[in-house]
Amino acid sequence: MSLTVVDNPITNHYLAILRSRHSNSETFRSAARRVALSLVHEAARGLLEDDIEVETPLEGTTGKRISQGIVAVPVLRSGLGMIDAVLALLPNVSVGYVGVARDEVTIKPEEYYIKLPDMAGKKVLVLEPMLATGGSLAYAIARIKDRGGEDITAICVIASPAGVDRLQEEHPDVDIVVASVDRDLDYRYYIRPGLGDMGDRLFGTV
Ligand code: URA
Repeated sequence: MSLTVVDNPITNHYLAILRSRHSNSETFRSAARRVALSLVHEAARGLLEDDIEVETPLEGTTGKRISQGIVAVPVLRSGLGMIDAVLALLPNVSVGYVGVARDEVTIKPEEYYIKLPDMAGKKVLVLEPMLATGGSLAYAIARIKDRGGEDITAICVIASPAGVDRLQEEHPDVDIVVASVDRDLDYRYYIRPGLGDMGDRLFGTV
């Protein structure tokens, strides 16, 4: 498994807007999309490509075309904040969904919705902005593997060290692309310093 922390000025700029308690939902959604665009560019490394003939206005040349099918799987609900970026950049994308809620007492993931397309031979991008304990993401990836997903990259905005460790332990074959690995988790399993509750901030349910 590889862990890639995307560290460039554009990603960092919009990550700071996400972290700020003063960003309203509209600002937050726009920054989430922009951070996700950076992360998707990174996650696209290694996608299979074909050579194609292209006519420029001046002469013929060769170009590249993405030839691998792609499945994006937002983990509900906060993963929805990253889906626009995937759809904006990548061709041939189908979208599946895994709905997992965290039981606040047991902290175990509880599935409430699942819909996954055929994933054989495809690159699967799992969208889970906050990799906190890793429970929901590890669960979603297990379901994706049950349905034939093999080439899997998790795209996260912020991870905790514990979440990364858990994913590496349970799914050592899965790559992670993230904008930041933060200090730790607090007693409520929020990432610190983090950005608060991603779903609430995206959808104005604070
Ligand atoms: N989910 C969030 O939205 N934020 C956290 O800090 C942890 C999990």
